[in-house]
Amino acid sequence: MPHLPSDTPLRDWLRALPKAELHLHIEGTLEPELMFALAERNGVPLPYADVDAVRQAYQFTDLQSFLDLYYAGASVLITEQDFYDLTMAYLHHAQADGLAHVELMFDPQTHTHRGIAIETVFAGLARALREARGTMGISGYLLLSFLRHLSEEDAFATLNAALPLRSQYDDLWVGIGLDSSERGNPPEKFARVYARCAELGFHLVAHAGEEGPADYVRSALEILKVARIDHGVRSSDDPDLLQELIQRRIPLTVCPLSNLKLGVVRDLSEHNLARLLRAGAMVTINADDPAYFGGYVLDNYVASAQALDLSHDELVTLAANSLQASFLPAADKTRLLDQLAAAASRG
Ligand code: ADE
Ligand code: ZN
Repeated sequence: MPHLPSDTPLRDWLRALPKAELHLHIEGTLEPELMFALAERNGVPLPYADVDAVRQAYQFTDLQSFLDLYYAGASVLITEQDFYDLTMAYLHHAQADGLAHVELMFDPQTHTHRGIAIETVFAGLARALREARGTMGISGYLLLSFLRHLSEEDAFATLNAALPLRSQYDDLWVGIGLDSSERGNPPEKFARVYARCAELGFHLVAHAGEEGPADYVRSALEILKVARIDHGVRSSDDPDLLQELIQRRIPLTVCPLSNLKLGVVRDLSEHNLARLLRAGAMVTINADDPAYFGGYVLDNYVASAQALDLSHDELVTLAANSLQASFLPAADKTRLLDQLAAAASRG
């Protein structure tokens, strides 16, 4: 297998490849510094003495141990400006990492359950994304994600609260996701609300097979009829399922550093990302919740390349997959894939 030219620093070469990030929770980009600044601005008490104490607390044993801190951290987000600042800070990382396109998940219920209007959330995210389109040349979409530990009725209420805003944000809000505590909350719990979202013409994704079993990946595909699986790393437990994913070119939005931090894998060298890719699965690399897991998307590429000995061609395939698996129009994908081919040959 061809490897990177030894005179090209891996990180710089990877940065220059046009890429898309498809699995990113905007609430998971809240860095401790911004958490403190917003807490002060809004008079929200935090249970930490300082920024270092926040980072110290990020010792996770599983998904739930992370989610508890993630929801608590989001309590500092109150105003439209807060959501704008959060998104803009992420977009600066996106630009620094060479992302051409981002598809951001956001969890309205995390905010509406605290009394924040869904209009405030949309307005802040949208202002940042539209500004970045103009000033940074990064395109962005929004995936409104339902919290799966809450009821389907609550998901319907969230959808119904958001729908009147759709025409105002139809350049951004293209899809629906499903996240939060996976085990015990199978995809079929949300069958009816996903059917409604499909009728409404949204692109559909769902977290499945992160901590939950391969069966959840199957039901996300068969019952929710999703176009992409977020994580999906447990799919390899079921060879028939894996073959179906490969044949149907269903993208998996894999998040290696997240899987490491949440104990899905013990060591990055044991991650099945390379095995999935080499078996023909449409794997992409993403950051999930970079402020909590110690790395943005480029860190995930570099760490995976090093731990799994990914070749030059494999890294280009991962970048190409991210563009192909996006919800961008075909013409935009073609343009970015052409740019990727040119960038890959430089080096
Ligand atoms: N919400 C934010 N990050 C998540 C993850 N990795 N899994 C499930 N829900 C999430
Ligand atoms: Zn996620």
